[in-house]
Amino acid sequence: MKVLVIGSGAREHALAWKLKQSPHVTELYAAPGSDGMCSVATPVNIKASDLNGLATFARDKKIDLTVVGPEDPLVEGIVDLFQKKHLRIYGPTRKASRLEGSKNFAKDIMSRHGIQTAGHKMYEQPAPALEYLKNCDYPVVLKADGLAAGKGVTIARTYEEAEAAVHEAMVDKRFGSAGRQVLIEDFLVGEEVSVHAISDGHNILPLCLAQDHKPVGEGDTGENTGGMGTYSPLPQINTETIHQLERDVIVQTIHAMNVEGEPFKGTLFAGCMMTKQGPKVLEYNVRFGDPETQSIMLRMQADLYEVLSATIDGELDKVEVNWDPRTAVTIVLASGGYPRSHEKGYKIKGLEWELGPDIQVFHAGTKKVDGDWYTNGGRVLSVSALGADLEDARAKAYAAVDKIHFDKMLYRKDIGFRGLKARR
Ligand code: AMP
Ligand code: GLY
Repeated sequence: MKVLVIGSGAREHALAWKLKQSPHVTELYAAPGSDGMCSVATPVNIKASDLNGLATFARDKKIDLTVVGPEDPLVEGIVDLFQKKHLRIYGPTRKASRLEGSKNFAKDIMSRHGIQTAGHKMYEQPAPALEYLKNCDYPVVLKADGLAAGKGVTIARTYEEAEAAVHEAMVDKRFGSAGRQVLIEDFLVGEEVSVHAISDGHNILPLCLAQDHKPVGEGDTGENTGGMGTYSPLPQINTETIHQLERDVIVQTIHAMNVEGEPFKGTLFAGCMMTKQGPKVLEYNVRFGDPETQSIMLRMQADLYEVLSATIDGELDKVEVNWDPRTAVTIVLASGGYPRSHEKGYKIKGLEWELGPDIQVFHAGTKKVDGDWYTNGGRVLSVSALGADLEDARAKAYAAVDKIHFDKMLYRKDIGFRGLKARR
């Protein structure tokens, strides 16, 4: 079978790496892919935003399955376009993708279907938003309604900070039309977990739980990023709680989408806060998380091609997925300055090392020039390791990180700290 992966980050590298292991997959392409993914997938020079170009390529190359990594093409309707052209593609339709593409839509679904989330109000004008902010509790959370590449969320500690965020979104239009409406949300306290599941619209396959580390600094300080590292499983979350997350969040959401007439087929990823009142949904994503996927793929014991193909066919009940009982840890190596402006083009040393069977290095922002690797983005590499337990997986992952170097390399040295605390 010929498979096309859309995207170019470490998540897509991990998906391609896993797909490559399937005996069904004879040819694997990535659009646009990257130099770092070349070892598993042939790069195709078409951007993830060029939906028509991708559909033409899939038709001409007779691609049997297309897998979408990032959210933007899904929200733009790539699945609808491919389906119209009778091309097999994995992911939710444009309408179902509004779970991620519009926070307004997501909140609506949650309130209509009794899915717990943070208390919130949506504003279309700055004046009433500011009026509300004068008397609300702080900290308070402000979110642009639409997609803002992970930058549309502000946690404001004071009225001044909140006012600045409203101004930025609604007056300066920093997020373009995504900030036309602003959601003001109660600040939730608790531990955050990434809950992934695959659904064919009826059957649901929960994936293993993971935890990301969003802020750039150790101890969860500093600005929010796309994610600085993950691990799975989470020793602090017991089986009963996992079942509660699956039942109260995942099953409820898939059911809600069916009731709404927008069946959800693809990967549903709910970012949940474990509060004293139980799990509450912070946000939905309609695709695999990055860097969650890197850890999840290391633990997945199944043929990913079969899983994704069965999802499209509505036969997810026919596949079996087991999880490696060991722990996976992923450390993101970023460029100094990330998530703000950062420099590129630094030489990366140490990628030639033989790292062993339990270690994988997934490329995000790298480039190969004359046989040498250079940095080429904010998040540069994901270093993932499997170990007997969290301590062992961390030790292996950080030992691998120690072998890699580039100028201004930035990474968190405390990935998994919450899990470690629970184990002590
Ligand atoms: P989002 O893009 O909605 O996931 O928000 C980005 C990050 O901001 C989340 O991963 C949380 O760490 C934090 N966050 C979002 N909403 C809230 C909230 N209501 N309370 C506390 N933290 C939040
Ligand atoms: N790691 C969070 C995300 O993929 O949105």
